[in-house]
Amino acid sequence: MSDSQARIEAAAERALATTAHLDINDQADAAEDAMAEELGKLASKSVIYTSGEEDPTTAKPFVQPPDRVMLMDEDPRLRKMPANPTLLDFFKYRFRPSQQHLLQSAALAQENGCSEKVVLACLLHDISVVGFIRADHGYWGAQLIEPYVDEEVSWAVRYHQALRFFPDDSVGYEYPEAYVRFFGSDFTPSREMQEAHDYARAHKWYMSSRLVTMNDLYAFDPDKKIDVERFADVIGRNFRQPPQGLGMDNSPSAHMWRTIIAPTRFL
Ligand SMILES: [Fe+2]
Ligand SMILES: [Fe+2]
Repeated sequence: MSDSQARIEAAAERALATTAHLDINDQADAAEDAMAEELGKLASKSVIYTSGEEDPTTAKPFVQPPDRVMLMDEDPRLRKMPANPTLLDFFKYRFRPSQQHLLQSAALAQENGCSEKVVLACLLHDISVVGFIRADHGYWGAQLIEPYVDEEVSWAVRYHQALRFFPDDSVGYEYPEAYVRFFGSDFTPSREMQEAHDYARAHKWYMSSRLVTMNDLYAFDPDKKIDVERFADVIGRNFRQPPQGLGMDNSPSAHMWRTIIAPTRFL
């Protein structure tokens, strides 16, 4: 842990100790404020303008306090990433604990005898959800990995988003029960998802994307912990790791990896 990280953590702990009588949300707010204060620079959240937390057209203009500069590098509240980060490093340093959903889905695909391309697609199918952005996650995820994987893998990741909504009796894929709980029984997928499904269904790679949905465990087991290292060999053979590191390689999606590394940079 770096010095600044230790200082920031200590500030959060002090804030938690002095607000122990408050409810958990107020405590969390106090800790967040204390960490930001200790950080000494103003950290911004990239998604705040479009997050829906406020109407962006009526948001108050940003005013920089006179005694502060804006954060333009990595946020010391996050763990320091290696200088040339690999895909495995992103799993270890940035992706959410719900990455177990990806690891367990990929393990299931392996147990079901799927090809390495499909196993990799399962491992990465919700990469956007665990590391970047939820809405339209199939498309964001596909774009993120596109420069580094076989075209069929990113294709399968892109279209699993639409295919998840549509049953296919011929392979025994049913509309997920969890989706009735998540979205309600009257939910119908958008026209765009319907069209994407129709397009994907007639495509030569349809089954690769369908296999992603068939190994997509919507209820992952919280007690089963799979280490991403289990897939190091599959990644090594099927993911073209840039030697400079993801984000430093000037690929068409390098900026997306950099945003995951330092998500609170002002610009
Ligand atoms: Fe998904
Ligand atoms: Fe999933």
